Amino acid sequence: MTLDIRQLTPGFGAEVRIDDIARFDEAAFSALRDLWVTHGILLFRDQELSEGAQTALSRRFGELEIHVRTEYLSPDFPEILFVSNMQKANGEPLGILADRDVGWHYDQIYLPKPALGSLIYAVKVPPEGGRTYFADMAAAYEALPDDLKQRIEGRRAVQSYEHFNRSYSVPTSKTQKARTQDVTHPMVRTHPYSKRKSLYICPGMTTEIIGLPETESRDILDRLFEFSVRPEFVYAHDWQAGDGILWDNARTMHRRDPFDGRHPRLMKRTTILMPDALAAPF
Ligand code: OGA
Ligand code: MN
Repeated sequence: MTLDIRQLTPGFGAEVRIDDIARFDEAAFSALRDLWVTHGILLFRDQELSEGAQTALSRRFGELEIHVRTEYLSPDFPEILFVSNMQKANGEPLGILADRDVGWHYDQIYLPKPALGSLIYAVKVPPEGGRTYFADMAAAYEALPDDLKQRIEGRRAVQSYEHFNRSYSVPTSKTQKARTQDVTHPMVRTHPYSKRKSLYICPGMTTEIIGLPETESRDILDRLFEFSVRPEFVYAHDWQAGDGILWDNARTMHRRDPFDGRHPRLMKRTTILMPDALAAPF
């Protein structure tokens, strides 16, 4: 089965032109999954996606994560995380990340069994700002100079949610801290489906390379971060309400621009976990 697509950049990303992403039969779903693995991010425009439909579609890709920030989960579907600057009726924040600038990160890289993918659906978007950028870490890895490749060969790095939260002064409860202790992962990981290698580090959450002196570790990480966000590896998305983006979280990291907080922005996110059978490369 062939789906109608348009490349978003020469190297990765595709828009899938489909009327209703919630109505995939098995053949179309299997084609969609292949596209996701091939292109790294998939964009769907003009969708009307209920929380139930988003959850059901996401679950076809794998088990879903219930985010540790339980205060921002949908009351109806705990698999849905609100990403928003809006407020609940009681005046508390409705979602994570508010209107701030959010630096490059991989979702859930700080978990022992990290995320395989995320699907964000845009419900309300501000007239400007709040653009989201994705970086293709498989292409970045392949293009790395040989000396850098060699220096990280076989190495692991520390991934820290606390580091991310501290950068944004996000309050974190004791339970949340206990559930998100630092972990280590290989810096280069083989994708469970495509078998392609990706750089698996990000400025927002990676703090050090295991087994190297601090200055060397910092120097290598900085070089890798600078290299991997070169324009040829990045896709920038300007949101319209009704957009959905499904990204391969084993291959792409992302960041977001700030926006004027007087305008409401609401995104709903589901997170697909790495299936147990495929988690071995970690
Ligand atoms: C996220 C995230 C970006 C955005 O939900 O994981 O980083 O555009 N959001 O809000
Ligand atoms: Mn994110």
